[in-house]
Amino acid sequence: MRKILIFDTTLRDGEQAPGNSMHASEKLEMSAQLERLGVDVLEAGFAAASPGDFASVKEIAEARKNLIVCSLSRCKKEDIDASYEALKSALVAPRIHLFLATSPVHMQYKLKMNEDQVLERIAESVRYTKKLVSDVQFSCEDAMRSERSFLIKAIQTAIDNGATTINVPDTVGYSYPEEIEDTFRFILSNVKNADKVIFATHCHNDLGLAVANSLAAIKAGACQLECTVNGIGERAGNASLEEVCMALKTRREYYDADTGIDTRQIYTTSQLLSSITGVKIPPTKPLVGKNAFAHESGIHQHGVLANKATYEIIDPSSLGIVQNNIVLGKHSGKHAFKDYLTGMGVDVADDELNMLFEKFKNIADKKKQITHKDIEYLISHTNTTQVKKSVTLNNYGITTLKGGPALATITLNTMDGIKAGNATGDGPIDAAFKAINAITGRDFKLIDWSVSAITEGEDALGAATLRLNYNGVEVTGRGISTDTVEASLLAYLNGCNKLFDMVP
Ligand code: KIV
Ligand code: ZN
Repeated sequence: MRKILIFDTTLRDGEQAPGNSMHASEKLEMSAQLERLGVDVLEAGFAAASPGDFASVKEIAEARKNLIVCSLSRCKKEDIDASYEALKSALVAPRIHLFLATSPVHMQYKLKMNEDQVLERIAESVRYTKKLVSDVQFSCEDAMRSERSFLIKAIQTAIDNGATTINVPDTVGYSYPEEIEDTFRFILSNVKNADKVIFATHCHNDLGLAVANSLAAIKAGACQLECTVNGIGERAGNASLEEVCMALKTRREYYDADTGIDTRQIYTTSQLLSSITGVKIPPTKPLVGKNAFAHESGIHQHGVLANKATYEIIDPSSLGIVQNNIVLGKHSGKHAFKDYLTGMGVDVADDELNMLFEKFKNIADKKKQITHKDIEYLISHTNTTQVKKSVTLNNYGITTLKGGPALATITLNTMDGIKAGNATGDGPIDAAFKAINAITGRDFKLIDWSVSAITEGEDALGAATLRLNYNGVEVTGRGISTDTVEASLLAYLNGCNKLFDMVP
């Protein structure tokens, strides 16, 4: 059975899509979870894109011990140098990922280069990169709309000059499975030394075919699969990691291939990303959506009760989905709490454990029973990676009258002591957020805000998630509490602290 390498680009292709930007500490947290998930290569960013991207690639490369960290680069010396500088202190030998477009439309209108110039640029860029690192990936951007004969020349040039992985992306999600399969077979039988390099597939989802196309490429001989958690990415996204990996695992006998992914980490990884970005997972999303294993109709319920195999092709526990409910209560000690986290595959350092346990105790004081869902949200809405807390909530009072404005009085703990502010607004949340802006002196703009109950019942925990923008930088804020107003205030302050850090 072939082992398919998983190249995760959640933090690069995924993060560059609107609404998915992350704070450096969140990228680091996500990279640790991707390591637990077992990805082989992690594309941590595009080091030359900004000082923030550079710092984040470097931080991840210096933290991850069990995977290859990679940085994207255009075929430009300054990009390659930036990637190298960010990666040179990596714990595991790093990869530089070069790309250059090879389709007629990209070469003519975007690059303004002819075929010879493109080949020359590929040759010199791969040669230059190869002097810096031994692991060089080259991608023919828009490969699936490139002339086949030119595609072969571009790939051959990259291999002849030292590339070790060749990626053949469907950049605009235009292809269909039979075409991709045929293209890979054509490449593998027409490129010299094809057996000396790894061929990769990277499919976008513009026609909803990214997963099917990726699987077709594997069938034809691709050994590296490029994908993102929850399928996030440019436009309609990339192939979803959980879907391709579970398709391979579930239909292993057909594909005769599998990955090294620890599928029990899939659900936690998906939830973590969703809570970091604030982008909700659609209920019908395969494997990780709320309804993926829900059986509503009587006939289905009857079948599942008689034998799960009637309507379930995958055991949800193989994705790390825990379906039992009440798990802990206010008398549970730190050991029981830690054991429970370990059982969920969550590995926390002592200081993080203390922080989570304190929050757990606060919630347990207010709620009779703590469910698995509560613990999941507790973890995902608690910033275990440290964002400096420039402001924290001290107290609040809000009054609201039907038909009139709401009035909020907020006090915050700041670097300069406790500060208070008042504001009126269209409703309690608007007034409270305005009061925080008045105290901080910053005009933070609320882009999106939602509160949801984590579990059912009167004492349910409320989870607030919002997006905040300041001077063009956008972050997610998260907060949980049994009181939805407090959850919203905590989420707002979580976002403010990230922005204080990113836009000093
Ligand atoms: O979609 C694409 O072609 C890319 C390349 C940079 C590999 O993301
Ligand atoms: Zn892409």
